[in-house]
Amino acid sequence: MLADVIEVLADPIDGTALHGEDNFRRLVSESGHSYDVARQGYVTLSAGGGLKFSGDNPEMLQSREAFLSRGHFAPFVEAVTEAVGVALDEAEVPDDAHPIIMEVGAGTGYYLSHTLDTVLNSRGVGIDISIPAAKRLATCHSQVGAVAADVWSRLPLKDDSVDVITVVFAPRNPAEFARVLKPGGQVIVLSADVGHLAELREPIGIIDVEPGKVERMISQAADYLVPAAPVEYIEFQMELDQSSIASQIGMSPSARHISPEVLAARVAKLPPSMTVTARAAISRLALKPQD
Ligand SMILES: C[S@@+](CC[C@H](N)C(=O)[O-])C[C@H]1O[C@@H](n2cnc3c(N)ncnc32)[C@H](O)[C@@H]1O
Repeated sequence: MLADVIEVLADPIDGTALHGEDNFRRLVSESGHSYDVARQGYVTLSAGGGLKFSGDNPEMLQSREAFLSRGHFAPFVEAVTEAVGVALDEAEVPDDAHPIIMEVGAGTGYYLSHTLDTVLNSRGVGIDISIPAAKRLATCHSQVGAVAADVWSRLPLKDDSVDVITVVFAPRNPAEFARVLKPGGQVIVLSADVGHLAELREPIGIIDVEPGKVERMISQAADYLVPAAPVEYIEFQMELDQSSIASQIGMSPSARHISPEVLAARVAKLPPSMTVTARAAISRLALKPQD
């Protein structure tokens, strides 16, 4: 709930502290700006009022929920949670602390919920630009505060307030991540790697991940964040039936380019079940030391 993480949230306009008013129906900043909490439990924190881009739509969220609920990406979620644990250990966060984990582009909250279930006393801030995602984030876990916000803008968080940031197949803003991370905090990035969904590329007509993607992500962050450990690669095989394949494509950026009718026709031509490779890179980044 928002009340659990209010101490780290900040006014997106001027960065001043927020507090709940009217039994958390509104968040109000020290400078007097007021942000309504939607009845579904999330708050939109944007300097311009609304958000410029709508992110994943309800159909994509439904596909994501369907696919993830079948456990096909279990090795990914376990790897992210394990990396968060390592990051907290390396930061020497004591066992009796209540660390803040922020996930950016958190979608349905599948990854954040798993992490919060595993890391003792942890609290989560789930950020997504998509309103359908923010609605899901508000109910995904009792310890999650759901915020609709744009990662490309000033994040509605205080400086030095977050223990770990996770980003799973979602956009990153290294300058803002560095501002809101506590000293010793880390950013965990899971990004698709070459070969991910390889068996589906040709029959469904989706493009492969471009080579060097992780290296580019690391070099683009280099002014603010540096690797805390070598990149690790996670690869496993999934046994996917046609419905899972349709959900996988429906939750991906390809859903924006392939109409539901064309996708259904292409999926119908596949065998009833296929072995499909999942492959991603997991990076742990720490604050760049000051000169
Ligand atoms: C590929 S999905 C990943 C969702 C989730 N991390 C997962 O793996 O289940 C990318 C998510 O990032 C969100 N997103 C896209 N652009 C964003 C932005 N500028 N700011 C915040 N979230 C954004 C989308 O709405 C979507 O929920």
